[in-house]
Amino acid sequence: MAGTRPATPQAMFTRIAPRYDAVNSLLTLGGDKRLRRRAVRALDLRPGAEVLDIAAGTAEIGAALAAVYPLRLSYVAVDLNEQMLAVAARKFARLRRKRPSNDWQLALGSAESLDFPSSSFDAAVMCFALDDMDDPAAALAETVRVLRADGRFLLIELAMPDSPLLRNLLKLRLRLIRGVAAIAGMDSVAHMTREVELDRGVEHTLARCENAGLELESTARHLGGLVRAHVFRKRKGL
Ligand SMILES: C[S@@+](CC[C@H](N)C(=O)[O-])C[C@H]1O[C@@H](n2cnc3c(N)ncnc32)[C@H](O)[C@@H]1O
Repeated sequence: MAGTRPATPQAMFTRIAPRYDAVNSLLTLGGDKRLRRRAVRALDLRPGAEVLDIAAGTAEIGAALAAVYPLRLSYVAVDLNEQMLAVAARKFARLRRKRPSNDWQLALGSAESLDFPSSSFDAAVMCFALDDMDDPAAALAETVRVLRADGRFLLIELAMPDSPLLRNLLKLRLRLIRGVAAIAGMDSVAHMTREVELDRGVEHTLARCENAGLELESTARHLGGLVRAHVFRKRKGL
């Protein structure tokens, strides 16, 4: 399953930002929103918790938090891409009406050098983004640095299913989707299908996180195993 992941040009996110949420919902028939809501529940946040969403894009994780937690939260969405954050900013207007007691913040910046003090968040989330980064190890080290002692990290990633039969069926489907996407000029969809095919396996992801100082608490499968949501704790003593 080893393979070199294609680099994700920021230009692609700039171009698709206004349609990013709609394309995800269309491809998963709304399953992407459901899985984010189910995944954030596993963070088991307390009132007043401070949450950092790293490579937050259009802040769909913020929307999931607002849907699941009726308590006061502070949410910061950080991303490199101004257009993705512009969509998030428009979403915040709706989220502020829904959860007025929450604090909603945006920050333009890189996951590899987070502009936040050490030990300043109770939880961090990274959703469909680790393999888009130039330096995933640096991004994970930064995640650990900004988490408080005992802080939780939710990592949501695309993955190939475990069963060889399902894997082969999925590969055929992905090739078909890629062919249609190429004809329709939907390069972001074509890119996503390549990312799934080049998945290096869950063990690779878990080893990366463990090396950064994260201890696995739980893993949940979503969308028939195509998505994994791992919850980690910051290792004691870090
Ligand atoms: C596939 S989108 C995922 C967005 C969002 N997390 C979600 O749940 O849909 C990947 C995002 O990662 C961002 N990104 C990629 N590399 C980054 C980096 N080094 N630092 C911050 N954001 C980054 C991109 O700009 C893009 O918004």
